[in-house]
Amino acid sequence: MSKKSAVKKRATTLKPFDKYLYYKKSVQSPDTDVEFLRDTYKELRGTDARVMREDFCGTFSICCEWVKLNKNNKAIGVDLDPEPIHYGKNNYQPLLTDEQQSRVKVLEKNVMDASLPKADIISAQNFSYYIFKSREVLKSYFKNAYKTLNNGGLFIVDSFGGSQCQEANEEETEHDGFSYFWDQDKFDPVTNDGLFFIHFKRKGEKKREKVFVYDWRMWSIPEIREIMEEAGFKTTHVYWEGTDKDGEGNGEFSRIKEGEECESWVAYIAGEK
Ligand SMILES: C[S@@+](CC[C@H](N)C(=O)[O-])C[C@H]1O[C@@H](n2cnc3c(N)ncnc32)[C@H](O)[C@@H]1O
Repeated sequence: MSKKSAVKKRATTLKPFDKYLYYKKSVQSPDTDVEFLRDTYKELRGTDARVMREDFCGTFSICCEWVKLNKNNKAIGVDLDPEPIHYGKNNYQPLLTDEQQSRVKVLEKNVMDASLPKADIISAQNFSYYIFKSREVLKSYFKNAYKTLNNGGLFIVDSFGGSQCQEANEEETEHDGFSYFWDQDKFDPVTNDGLFFIHFKRKGEKKREKVFVYDWRMWSIPEIREIMEEAGFKTTHVYWEGTDKDGEGNGEFSRIKEGEECESWVAYIAGEK
């Protein structure tokens, strides 16, 4: 078979493109995310969290992992968009036992809704709250999280930044059979707005451009802490990611008082009610 027809054959035998599958393989790690939530609550509160609410849950993969961690755990997912919710219902929820499924509830609602169910932990992951560009709107969201947390609850959000996030650049990560591209298209130093795209390219296919698009405000850690405190949180903590021998993030986070300068960092911020 010629090289050209081998490529053609490969393209025709690939499964239909499933953007959430490639997203999960590239950016999500719900099994370790829930361990971090569990351990952080235990460290700060000295007891176990039982009810976890995943705001901006998308395909609610963190909810599904949370109920697998412990038979007493319950999860609530909240997202405005029915599309990722349906995907999670068809692809992730069926992987749970019936009993585990009975402990997951997903709501097609706005995270600003004051009637959302209360939880011990409210978690907003993958920087989703960067969609709120003004301090006033972000504070309203943080206030609603505060109000809908159980007493003694924790609000845990992730954040990212570094000098690399203050300029246009595109980074390719190769995976088995495909490449993932994190493309920062723009950064505006006046507003701190950043425009990001995720592209994918499966072997033997054209690059699929702008599969996911994020128009965000790049919030800094001190801003996030200050706004959490203004929203009522009594204390905030920062968890910084460690590095492996190549200087890359190792997925392990520890509580720190001072960070370190780097091109690109990821951190969690936890607010205590
Ligand atoms: C960046 S995705 C993150 C999905 C998921 N948390 C993850 O880790 O992959 C952002 C999600 O937030 C949802 N979203 C945006 N604004 C929202 C709002 N005000 N209330 C609820 N969901 C919202 C979108 O529908 C989308 O599914």
